[in-house]
Amino acid sequence: MTSESFVRRRFRIRSEGGRSLLVDSFHRTLRDLRVSVTDRCNFRCLYCLPESEAAENFYRDRWKFRSGDAIRPRWKPKRDILTFEEITRFVRLAARCGIEKLRVTGGEPLLRRNLPDLIRRLAEIPGIRDLAMTTNGFTFPKSARLLRAAGLQRVSFSLDSFDPDNFRKLTGVQGLEQVTRSVKLAQQLGFSPVKVNAVVIKDINDHEIVALARYAREEGVSMRFIEFMPLDARKSWQREHVVSGRDMFSRLREEFSLTEIDSERPAETARRWRIDDSDGEIGIIAPVTEPFCGHCDRLRLTADGQVRTCLFSVQEHDFRSLMRSTGDDEVIETRLREVVSLKESGHRIGREDFVYPSRSMSSIGG
Ligand code: GTP
Ligand code: 5AD
Ligand code: SF4
Repeated sequence: MTSESFVRRRFRIRSEGGRSLLVDSFHRTLRDLRVSVTDRCNFRCLYCLPESEAAENFYRDRWKFRSGDAIRPRWKPKRDILTFEEITRFVRLAARCGIEKLRVTGGEPLLRRNLPDLIRRLAEIPGIRDLAMTTNGFTFPKSARLLRAAGLQRVSFSLDSFDPDNFRKLTGVQGLEQVTRSVKLAQQLGFSPVKVNAVVIKDINDHEIVALARYAREEGVSMRFIEFMPLDARKSWQREHVVSGRDMFSRLREEFSLTEIDSERPAETARRWRIDDSDGEIGIIAPVTEPFCGHCDRLRLTADGQVRTCLFSVQEHDFRSLMRSTGDDEVIETRLREVVSLKESGHRIGREDFVYPSRSMSSIGG
């Protein structure tokens, strides 16, 4: 049997409103597409893309490296980056196959020139009912109003520390004040819900969990604590750097009165709790100790046009060349179905056969 016919045999057909959906070989229907619009970033978060000297030294003090030298990011040349037309074309045909949630990511998506123009095009695509963005928030005020007017509905910010010095060490940038201002602005402009993501790393920011949750209570945001995953450019992740979701929760429960919120979607990454007597909530995302791959409905498109079926994929699928070689959307759709049938059952973090993914989070975007 050829590998092509093998793939075809593994197709699952499921339709909705006359459309045939993207179903993988484990019966998961894909609804959520994350599109990275640039691989560049103005931060150097040490769990993602360490480059600055401060981040390097910070790392060196605490962790033993697997590799020796600093990792200098090599950005993709502009000709390899999908144009707005290409991104829109891909999203339109994915939406015809049942994708309804769209998240714009980076690198740092706000570094992409004329982003509100892209958002406007994406917001007009039939079938897309949820349009969100993940950002570090540093330059958000410059385009926040335009993004809102263009149809962006939700924003998630990265904020891993509430201590200005620790923030700088973690991100390579003195920017805590800018980011908290951006979170406030997002609320004022009606983005809802506003989520704030903190990657928790042992001995680096785990002592700040309670302070971050207090911030969520005071500001009425959804503060999500994320287990550190092996997606750092450095490849320095080790199991002992991970603070388990369970551990985070028990520390939070000692300080706050929490009521669990029922999940609306099985594919949701976070378990969530309302902080009583406030509009704030906390979420715990525990992909390492409590994997949620069985319900995964996510697909990713990188800025240079590669489809990734898992955050931890070691293989990518080149849709840039395909889109540039044909004007026929049917061809692309057929290829997309093939690729979806190859979606991995889940990650293998912590197993002996774990292989670092072919890219770090900096160019996948979360
Ligand atoms: P929405 O439902 O669109 O709000 O997204 P979300 O709640 O999944 O949040 P978001 O996309 O902001 O993801 C938050 C974090 O969860 C990411 O930064 C990752 O660290 C982690 N995460 C998101 N998706 C996946 C996934 O598919 N697999 C794993 N292992 N981790 C994920
Ligand atoms: N582990 C877990 N989450 C990560 N992120 C980036 N790198 C990692 C990692 N190694 C998340 C951050 C950021 C989003 C883009 O991806 O929360 O908000
Ligand atoms: Fe989905 Fe892969 Fe994340 Fe598991 S690790 S939830 S399969 S993207």
